[in-house]
Amino acid sequence: MNQSRENWGSRMGFIMAAAGSAVGLGNIWRFPYMAGANGGSAFILIYLVFVFIIGLSVMIAEFAVGRRTSLAAVGAYKHYSKRWTFAGVLGVVSAFFIMGFYPVVGGWALAYVFKSLTGLLSNAGAIGDVFGGFITNPIEPLAWMGVFLLMNVVIVAKGIAGGIEKAGKVLMPTLFVLLILIAVRSVTLPGAGAGLAFLFQPDFSEVTGQTFLAALGQAFFSLSLGMGCMITYGSYLSKEEKLPNNALIVTALDTGVALLAGIAIFPALFAFGMEPAAGPGLVFVVVPSIFAQMGGIGTLFAAIFFVALTVAALTSSVSLMEVVAAYLIDQKQMERKKAVYSTGFIMVITGILSSLSLGIMSGFTILGVGVFDFFDILTDKIFLAIGGMLLAIFVGWVVKKEDLEDELTNGGTLTFGLFNIWYNVVKYVIPVAVAVVAVLGIMDIAQ
Ligand code: PHE
Repeated sequence: MNQSRENWGSRMGFIMAAAGSAVGLGNIWRFPYMAGANGGSAFILIYLVFVFIIGLSVMIAEFAVGRRTSLAAVGAYKHYSKRWTFAGVLGVVSAFFIMGFYPVVGGWALAYVFKSLTGLLSNAGAIGDVFGGFITNPIEPLAWMGVFLLMNVVIVAKGIAGGIEKAGKVLMPTLFVLLILIAVRSVTLPGAGAGLAFLFQPDFSEVTGQTFLAALGQAFFSLSLGMGCMITYGSYLSKEEKLPNNALIVTALDTGVALLAGIAIFPALFAFGMEPAAGPGLVFVVVPSIFAQMGGIGTLFAAIFFVALTVAALTSSVSLMEVVAAYLIDQKQMERKKAVYSTGFIMVITGILSSLSLGIMSGFTILGVGVFDFFDILTDKIFLAIGGMLLAIFVGWVVKKEDLEDELTNGGTLTFGLFNIWYNVVKYVIPVAVAVVAVLGIMDIAQ
């Protein structure tokens, strides 16, 4: 189709970039506090079912649409039907909204690398107050967010193979090794068993409609689905690659890291008698507190942990920025650098508003919540689920079945009738399941 289009440099490069997009703050910052706030094991079980039935199928569908059309989200929808352009645009809007709060947390992670090394851990009792003081400060977090966004702009401006792929290839394996190191330390602490029980012994007594919606939103968010990101990444993928295999690897890696983050955090948290439902500050307060009790080596562990968190955030936020940049490049014929600089500029502004909403601008609310929470809740609970449902309806009912079979099988066949199973899941099961979960969740919240 588009002969001069950029391509991933290698298979490994693609997997690392796609896994880099999926593995992010969603896994390490958000997954533990969502699991903690929703009762642990039961939430995790529901999450896993959603990931492997809905998430995996949607990811294959996004890859298929992207590669078939060689176009990013908006172009891909438009290619099949002008009436569906809105679904692609919704994805670009979602990317903007997620980038409204994501770089703020990315900036915190970066700041905590330096804070860990410069005395944060020496006064364990004050760690919670330091976090509260830091995120509500009108200047300091803005500076860190600025640095974080600058890193994004530099990587995305270099283009696909040059920037994003190279960064992913080095940074993702580093992250895996770091997390395993911390998880091993955590489970070997005395009293760690209670944390493992919290994670793995299902207790359904606290499950409500909201638990399901939270788990579904988390699944879409963590796998980077429902907003065209994987369509965009798939559009750069070579025709020889097998889509289902790639999707399975990315999904497994993403889930593995989330569980690993849980294993890194909860056993230690219980070992030290802390509260699992600590909320968004969980990682930033609990992890340093845990490490503070370990002496000098703890300082090193904490710094390493926040390097890993920053790295994970960066490989995800570049994919979000790429969705917006690719839209401007494909649809508005903008030159890459110009597209990236203007995108970055707007993101600085939304990021500033979002960061300040936790401090001096906390009085300013949209629909009853601050700017940061507004971006977060709107994307995670609403936009991504709608985006995922639209994609499933689009693929099931608009795209030709033969085209899909051709993409999924690379012109051959899949064993065990797997293609038909996938097709029916996408066409019938996902639209209905997402609608049911959304209705139940919203009714529950409204109660
Ligand atoms: N998956 C990323 C994470 O878990 C966030 C993300 C969402 C990235 C949507 C791209 C698209 O942090």
